[in-house]
Amino acid sequence: MTPHSFALPSTGPTPVGTLPRVRAADQTRLVARLLLPALAEGVIRRRPLPMALAQRARADRGAIDELCRLRERYGPGPLRLTPAGRDVAVVLEPDDLARMLAETPDPFTPAAWEKRRALDRFQPHGSLITRGPRRAARREVNERALQWRRPLHDLAPAVTARVADEAAGVLRAADGCLTWDGFAVGWWRSVRRVVLGDGAAGDDLLTDRLARLRSAGNWSFLMPRRHSARAAFLDRLAPAVAAAGPDTLAGRLPEAAAEAGASDTEAAGQVPHWLFAFDAAGAATLRTLALLAGHPEAAERARAEAADGDPASPRPLPYLRACVEEAVRLWPTTPLLLRESTGDTVWHGTVVPAGTAFAAFTPYFHRARPAGPYGDAFVPEIWLDGRAERDPALVPFSGGPGVCPGENVVLLTATAWLAALIADRAYAVLSPGAPRADAPVPPTIDHFGLRLAVGPA
Ligand code: HEM
Repeated sequence: MTPHSFALPSTGPTPVGTLPRVRAADQTRLVARLLLPALAEGVIRRRPLPMALAQRARADRGAIDELCRLRERYGPGPLRLTPAGRDVAVVLEPDDLARMLAETPDPFTPAAWEKRRALDRFQPHGSLITRGPRRAARREVNERALQWRRPLHDLAPAVTARVADEAAGVLRAADGCLTWDGFAVGWWRSVRRVVLGDGAAGDDLLTDRLARLRSAGNWSFLMPRRHSARAAFLDRLAPAVAAAGPDTLAGRLPEAAAEAGASDTEAAGQVPHWLFAFDAAGAATLRTLALLAGHPEAAERARAEAADGDPASPRPLPYLRACVEEAVRLWPTTPLLLRESTGDTVWHGTVVPAGTAFAAFTPYFHRARPAGPYGDAFVPEIWLDGRAERDPALVPFSGGPGVCPGENVVLLTATAWLAALIADRAYAVLSPGAPRADAPVPPTIDHFGLRLAVGPA
């Protein structure tokens, strides 16, 4: 942590200094190159057409370059701006990012106004949007039920068997060409089975209702809340959670709730976030497959790991895990990490008032600041040799007390899928913008548009 970063002392000398305030023209450029594309692509649920356009326009590169330009012009920041009248501080230095994450939830709550407004549409009890004393218990429910520190959840055998089963179905249906739509059918069946049980495998209506609420969350600033749509989703979810058996993630909630001191409603109220977040994990899985398709040496190493053992039994699969982490570094599924200050904070000797939104654009940190030699390259090894761990700029699953408690479950599920898909098959990306070993990894990828040829390994 930098010496200039500290919480505001209650007594003592008044801090002096200034944080750079971004000029109007620069603010307009930043909004146009970062905020508007992010809103168009969909912050809560990605939208296929804007994603396709964003890939073609290399949208994230524009936003990264703009932040680099502002860093040169204004210094290390955080940069203060006021888009639509909202006080925002954009962090630009890894140490400042680390501070913001380490000092979560106080004085930097993850439950920023924008997130509460968007996520309250489908997860009113979600820990991520809970302020005040109930957050701790809700967060703990997640940590316990998801066994966040364990690389292999004790449900790993059930997860792996279900995934192997669904992956086989996807490959049978693919008929030589794997698309997002084909993959997503099996992916969602596996998610519902893992979270709620085999009885929920075909409950498309549940996840479709969630998808509609997430779409509304994209436009939460403009659209009124639809309480009836939320009730319809939660009414369908409640009996599924209540019926979830011991071989499911939701089946772990009663025990987790008792240990964390949370009510049954609060515990069940974490499941909407899980279902929502598994969408990102599916995108990351198919994107990893695309990266492997373009990097034959990595694919060979991953295939050897996948083929070494029974695809239906759980294995740590360290190289495949690293490949998924690397896919999420290169294409973060949560590109904007947002916090809101619950009290005045001091930065570079200047007071930033309570209620300011602190924003970190992770594609900038992951690729450009500091510009590691791996910046735009696919280098899974950084997740194995300690380089990523030592670099505070690399936070695809966030960090500090608000780190994603689902990270290990994501990596378990995604690697089980990848192992089943690649053990005896090879892939080539047919759609435009394919990642290749001899070129920088494209800054933006439209996973909806991915088409991969499937052949024997
Ligand atoms: C590729 C997949 C995923 C990625 C990259 C990811 C990343 C993240 C990030 C960056 C955050 C912090 C968000 C913020 O500060 O605003 C977060 C929070 C969270 N994630 Fe994930 N996530 C993924 C999937 C999942 C899954 C599948 C689950 C559950 C099964 C999950 C459970 C959670 C929960 C409960 C939180 C809120 C934690 C809190 O309130 O402190 N995530 N995730």
